[in-house]
Amino acid sequence: MRTQIAIVGAGPAGLLLGALLHRAGIDNVVLEQRSAEYVLGRIRAGVLEQVAVDLLREAGIAERLDAQGLPHDGFEMAFGERRLRIDLHALTGRRVVVYGQTEVTRDLMDHRHQTGLGTVYEAEDVQPHGFDGGRPYLSYRHGGTGHRLDADFLIGCDGFHGVCRASVPPGALQTFEKIYPFGWLGLLAETPPVSPELIYGHTERGFTLASMRSHQRSRYYLQCSLDDTVAQWSDDAFWAELRRRLPAAAAAQLVTGPSIEKSIAPLRSFVAEPMRFGRLFLAGDAAHIVPPTGAKGLNLAASDVGLLARALAEFYGGSTAGIDHYSQRALARVWKAERFSWWFTSLMHRFPDTGGFGLRMQQAEFDYLCGSVAAQTVLAENYVGLPLG
Ligand code: FAD
Ligand code: PHB
Repeated sequence: MRTQIAIVGAGPAGLLLGALLHRAGIDNVVLEQRSAEYVLGRIRAGVLEQVAVDLLREAGIAERLDAQGLPHDGFEMAFGERRLRIDLHALTGRRVVVYGQTEVTRDLMDHRHQTGLGTVYEAEDVQPHGFDGGRPYLSYRHGGTGHRLDADFLIGCDGFHGVCRASVPPGALQTFEKIYPFGWLGLLAETPPVSPELIYGHTERGFTLASMRSHQRSRYYLQCSLDDTVAQWSDDAFWAELRRRLPAAAAAQLVTGPSIEKSIAPLRSFVAEPMRFGRLFLAGDAAHIVPPTGAKGLNLAASDVGLLARALAEFYGGSTAGIDHYSQRALARVWKAERFSWWFTSLMHRFPDTGGFGLRMQQAEFDYLCGSVAAQTVLAENYVGLPLG
């Protein structure tokens, strides 16, 4: 088989890239190691920046998003009982849209199915080859037989544990990493959200986040120990702990119910540089990870592939400038999102070594935010997302 662009991974990065390339008249095939159902079963991000929404519109996949996405003009921060609303729209003229990663993925999958673009789910042993020369290809097994997919370029959209970044010769890659000493326990329930906007809470018992997927479906998170297991956390234990961490007025509004999903995610900051090796490009979680506090993971995946789709269209138009600058341009945006996600994570969580001084620093930072429109603007500008460039 031969295509112009061979994409590894059918997460949001791989599927959105495929759709944008298709829009530009560029043929592509996606290889995914899991089944479509498995990919849709992973509950992850929930907040889309304007840049991600614009890219989905550009790809012609925003119909359901426009009808069902919840535009949010602001969010709340709580330090114990003290609450501060960050008015994103007043501060930046922009807003975010609450629409789950599962829904984005489903819309992209449906679109890919309708356009008849090649997608191989349950592709085993995918391996990139020849990307340092002029004849790159992917080898893989499917249904018990070996296959080869030749392409002009290979794109690693295969997430943090994928094969593409791991195939780059050691020494050609520089990595930067910070692992946080806690995780997030998430719970999804068919209950109305506790508040119309997201609440990011700092408490002495640890961080909490009250989010949502719709007016009927809530998503909550609790900072937890890395040693915790989902089995240890009954629904009742989760709801009781959430009630303790929410500001009292919000806790009074809490509606509980059986969980639809519960999972624990570790928190990590990670960047691999560069994001190109000859004819192999990396995009999304394959190249970088942010802790979820800033809601940037999915949005960075979208902005990477937005830049990459434009660069590849330029290449087929006769200019290599876009692909030559992709890594530099993407990384400039990635590092700013890394900084913001690290800052917001550091402000809102209890660290084992927070101590009295650390706690006072967090409280002083929150006080400063409460009294400074300039500080709120910095936060809001980063939260709604920086321009694609
Ligand atoms: P992924 O979504 O990881 O997609 C990569 C795809 O590649 C997967 O489908 C995988 O199966 C496939 N793949 C991997 N290896 C291979 C291989 N060898 N061959 C073929 N296919 C392969 N972000 C937020 O903003 N908020 C959140 O609350 C949040 N929660 C998260 C919870 C968890 C547990 C995780 C892991 C991430 C979370 N994120 C969150 C981050 C966000 O979901 C990611 O940034 C986003 O999914 C990145 O999209 P992607 O397409 O780059 O990678
Ligand atoms: C979510 O709804 O899953 C969500 C929202 C905001 C975040 C992280 C996760 O910062």
